[in-house]
Amino acid sequence: MAVLTIFDPIPKIVEDPKDIKTFMNERGIIFEQWEANRPLLDNDSQETILLAYDHKLSPYMKKHGYLSADVINVHKETPNIEAIRAKFLSEHTHSEDEVRFFVDGEGQFFFHLKEKSEVFKLLCEKGDFISVPKGVTHWFDLAPKYFVKAIRVFQTQDGWVANYTESGIEKKYSL
Ligand SMILES: [Fe+2]
Repeated sequence: MAVLTIFDPIPKIVEDPKDIKTFMNERGIIFEQWEANRPLLDNDSQETILLAYDHKLSPYMKKHGYLSADVINVHKETPNIEAIRAKFLSEHTHSEDEVRFFVDGEGQFFFHLKEKSEVFKLLCEKGDFISVPKGVTHWFDLAPKYFVKAIRVFQTQDGWVANYTESGIEKKYSL
């Protein structure tokens, strides 16, 4: 279950999924919770995972013009795990929306909404779906769990390449 931690301007923790959804939606960030239509096992294939969420995934992809989906599985034994973590640990934007559905594990999205002077993080866990709009400044941390199994969807091959802002703001809000 997701947990929203607001750092600035007024520190607050929000745990009610309805309140989290409202908060995120008001800022143009889509947040939903999805359930699989069948029980999933730890070693299920990418195809099985995609099928288990197809009732939610396909309509979303059709509606928003996504062409492909895959499943990533990053864990403590993944080679170069710290390098993978470091790639998205600095504030950045993307040229297309960053869409993730958490099948298992967890990850933390940090947001920096300049026009509102807001900084907050959303801890995403199993069942949480998020779409970060293109151009929104954010960063992502695999720690402390170092385990993320997530569905990603894409419009183009290079749409989610990180464009770093070099602001250094993430250092103020690290774990
Ligand atoms: Fe990102």
